[in-house]
Amino acid sequence: MAKTWILGVSAYYHDSAAALVCDGEVVAAAQEERFTRRKHDAAFPSRAAASCLERAGITLADVASVAFYEKPLLKFERLVDTYLAFAPRGLPSFVAAMPVWTREKLFQRALLRRALAGLPGGERVPPLLFPEHHRSHAASAFFPSPFERAAVLCVDGVGERATTSAWRGAGSRLTPLWQLEFPHSLGLLYSAFTQYLGFRVNSAEYKVMGLAPYGEPRYVDRILGTLLDLKEDGTFRLDMRYFGFATGLEMTSRAFHRLFGGPPRTPEGPLGQREMDLARSIQAVTEEVVLRLARTLRRETGEERLCLAGGVALNCVANSRLRRDAGFEDLWVQPAAGDAGGALGAALAAWHGHHGAPRALGPSDGMRGALLGPAFDDAAIDETLRRLGAVFHAPADEAALLDRTAALLAEGAVVGWFQGPMEYGPRALGDRSILGDPRDPGMQSRMNLKIKFRESFRPFAPAVPAEKARAHFDLDRESPYMLLVARTASGLALPAVTHVDGSARVQTVSAAANPRFHRLLAAFERRTGCPVLVNTSFNVRSEPIVCTPEDAYRCFLKTGMDHLVLGGRLLHKSEQPPLRETPIEAAAAGPARRGVLALAARALSPLRAAWMRLGELLGWINTRVVFGAIHLALVVPYGLALRALGKRLLELGFDRAAPSYRKDASADASGALDRPY
Ligand SMILES: [Fe+2]
Repeated sequence: MAKTWILGVSAYYHDSAAALVCDGEVVAAAQEERFTRRKHDAAFPSRAAASCLERAGITLADVASVAFYEKPLLKFERLVDTYLAFAPRGLPSFVAAMPVWTREKLFQRALLRRALAGLPGGERVPPLLFPEHHRSHAASAFFPSPFERAAVLCVDGVGERATTSAWRGAGSRLTPLWQLEFPHSLGLLYSAFTQYLGFRVNSAEYKVMGLAPYGEPRYVDRILGTLLDLKEDGTFRLDMRYFGFATGLEMTSRAFHRLFGGPPRTPEGPLGQREMDLARSIQAVTEEVVLRLARTLRRETGEERLCLAGGVALNCVANSRLRRDAGFEDLWVQPAAGDAGGALGAALAAWHGHHGAPRALGPSDGMRGALLGPAFDDAAIDETLRRLGAVFHAPADEAALLDRTAALLAEGAVVGWFQGPMEYGPRALGDRSILGDPRDPGMQSRMNLKIKFRESFRPFAPAVPAEKARAHFDLDRESPYMLLVARTASGLALPAVTHVDGSARVQTVSAAANPRFHRLLAAFERRTGCPVLVNTSFNVRSEPIVCTPEDAYRCFLKTGMDHLVLGGRLLHKSEQPPLRETPIEAAAAGPARRGVLALAARALSPLRAAWMRLGELLGWINTRVVFGAIHLALVVPYGLALRALGKRLLELGFDRAAPSYRKDASADASGALDRPY
């Protein structure tokens, strides 16, 4: 019987990605940023999609349908309702967002078809499907999980309207139960604090989590008493007077700044006790909210297992709290829990929801260790290294390579470790990693400052063989995706991976999921008695994790890494020549021009650039004037009139007497996957 391939796509917001599913099995998945080298790239994931198709040995012509991770027209409707509900506020945001929507995003079906036509085999674009944003998250959480049935909780910033959603998964069915809607969002609340603390929204939320253990939860009462009304069941509403994200360009308002005693921290400003206390406080509130939500789900569904997705599910401290205290027997978190994972969820939602296919459970989860991206064999690695003029060694066999690598690590070296398929999701899990000795007290600051070029407060994660995890960490289950924290309970001192509160963000490595990395840990243990290694992602601050051997080699040369293992090859920093310009870079510099023509071109180029800039400026002014006029002449009067007539487009304001803020979601339009609304 012919196989059914489905390509999932997330794009046009942040963290674009593509995923390929064959008869319900996850075959390949990757984020676009890894290929374009632009962190959180939001463009259509052309290169990620092409890479997924290539990995499967097919073209778009073999694909039965393409599933986009949300319904763009519902999202647009929510946007319009927001501007109407908040009128007369919202002008700066309206003139910033609407031109893009009216030019491109409103016509997303056509936009997607055009982009897909550029893929191999794109002469015939398959039918497009549009599951809702939270259905994509829920599908990514439940279908690859090892559970036959489970409660599913999705918590993120916002999709179309839902910001938190509760589901029941059973077999191949996902049934929506209830949800919370924009602007009441735990993800956006956390992001508001992220920005207030001087970190980047949709990018650096994990830094707030890393900072939290240094602080005291001094602001919890102020947050719970002022910023939100939290019900016993975990549902809540935000007091929008304190936030700017609904209609402005900033996440927080002046009232928020007054409440917490000052303006936001500047990005490179000092981190003091106040910032640490704020981080600890918002972390504590987040844990409390998700814990209440999960307990409610446990009580109402009777399910014994819980699946999680949505950006908030990347908060491994909150996940561990759920694991411990929510009353579920087991928990599974989608490793690509953020919007990149929506690509995979969309494809799985399409397979089970649209193609109506049953679900087959395997012995473990369906994520293949999240090792779903492109891989490079030694021949491809050799070709790259020769082209770059690198000096490299080819140990006789894998055992010799692992033994030598373990010896270098034991001597205190920092080793780049590049093997097999690239990871899907934000964590490096032993295929695109930088490794070090966790027993070395100087390792954390050395890796932070000389290799990652980042703030020194952030701890690293330990990788440990799954069967040895309990001997070193207080962990009662596997944590293959680094999405749980556990107290360090080792007879060994492991300062480089132990946070100030004694916890560690553990990755358990199984021989089945990543055999070579597992063997390296064993080789390190044979040499040192310690089966644990520091595992941090193979990138520097503000760059995506490396994808190709060339990315890895360049990153190796630019940082303080001592050695690099690329597949079966070993490189020492001390032997490397200065980096050569590659043919790609040379070509990007443009064809060589000579003589009078070159001089004329050079003389005219500033004029041309100035002319282009003037054109851009006029276009920008024009757009702002037109959309500013639309806002003032249409949106404001219409919004005010609706309000005068008592019509509420968004639920704002607290209802202290109500037991819950949940909205029933059982009437969800799950049968209409083929419509973008
Ligand atoms: Fe999301």
